[in-house]
Amino acid sequence: MSQVPIVRYRDVSKSYGSIHVLNHIDLDIYSGEKVVVIGPSGSGKTTLARLLMTLEHPTSGTIEVDGELLWHQEVKGKLIQANEQHLHRLRSNIGMVFQHFNLFPHMTILKNVIEAPIHVLGLQRAEAEERAIEMLGKVGLADKLNEYPARLSGGQKQRVAIARAVVMQPKIMLFDEATSALDPELVGEVLSVIKDLAAQGDMTMMLITHEMDFAREVADRILFTDGGSIVEQGTPEQIFENPQSPRLQSFLSRFRQTWFMGGIPQASPSAE
Ligand SMILES: Nc1ncnc2c1ncn2[C@@H]1O[C@H](COP(=O)(O)OP(=O)(O)OP(=O)(O)O)[C@@H](O)[C@H]1O
Ligand SMILES: [Mg+2]
Repeated sequence: MSQVPIVRYRDVSKSYGSIHVLNHIDLDIYSGEKVVVIGPSGSGKTTLARLLMTLEHPTSGTIEVDGELLWHQEVKGKLIQANEQHLHRLRSNIGMVFQHFNLFPHMTILKNVIEAPIHVLGLQRAEAEERAIEMLGKVGLADKLNEYPARLSGGQKQRVAIARAVVMQPKIMLFDEATSALDPELVGEVLSVIKDLAAQGDMTMMLITHEMDFAREVADRILFTDGGSIVEQGTPEQIFENPQSPRLQSFLSRFRQTWFMGGIPQASPSAE
């Protein structure tokens, strides 16, 4: 992991009218780092990712991607709102996998994965196919290239979605609860694909999850969000073995209770 931040949030806040969803977020994510975000439902995790993906506009503050301002452009020493062209260019640095896969139903798996490399990156079809086939192999779908999405399981579809995002070679990959819409028996295969990608090293990742074992295994650093702030952060050991804030302690104890009861941890433990 290098010491160059690939993403910097500086005093970023987000409100919807009078609802403050994120409050003064400062966050650096370093090249190659795997940052996992945990926290109660409604604490702002998805919003944090959506601001970086340019799906939501920050109310105040700045975000930099690889040294460039994402939402702003500097003109004659003054910051102005970035235009669509600027956003489009910077957005190509960021890949995202959501809860729902949104594959193109009328296209084969291979076609789904080569679309953006051809139309966004401008690759030749042969090169795009070569990359896509390699990527689909990595997610265990080498034998499904000519299949249509409707004939895949949810876990397989989500693995296509991962391949489709990673094939663009983004500078940072965001995963927002990539497994929470899946049947429980399909969760493991998708988490293991993400773990394999993480273990390959160079890719910078921000992962939002309610899967605490996965968080512990994959994270270099864990952020705990509550009420729109990063309340605590640290290594998996610090967060899970020695949580400092009462809010994190109570959040973790709710998970432990569920495990102790022998149940499946709830997808979204609610805030107090
Ligand atoms: N478009 C919107 N308009 C108004 N409020 C919104 C909007 N989007 C999100 N919010 C509010 O912002 C808060 C944070 O939402 P966010 O989706 O970031 O939470 P989260 O931590 O990802 O929760 P979960 O674990 O349930 O996915 C919530 O209170 C939500 O209701
Ligand atoms: Mg969310």
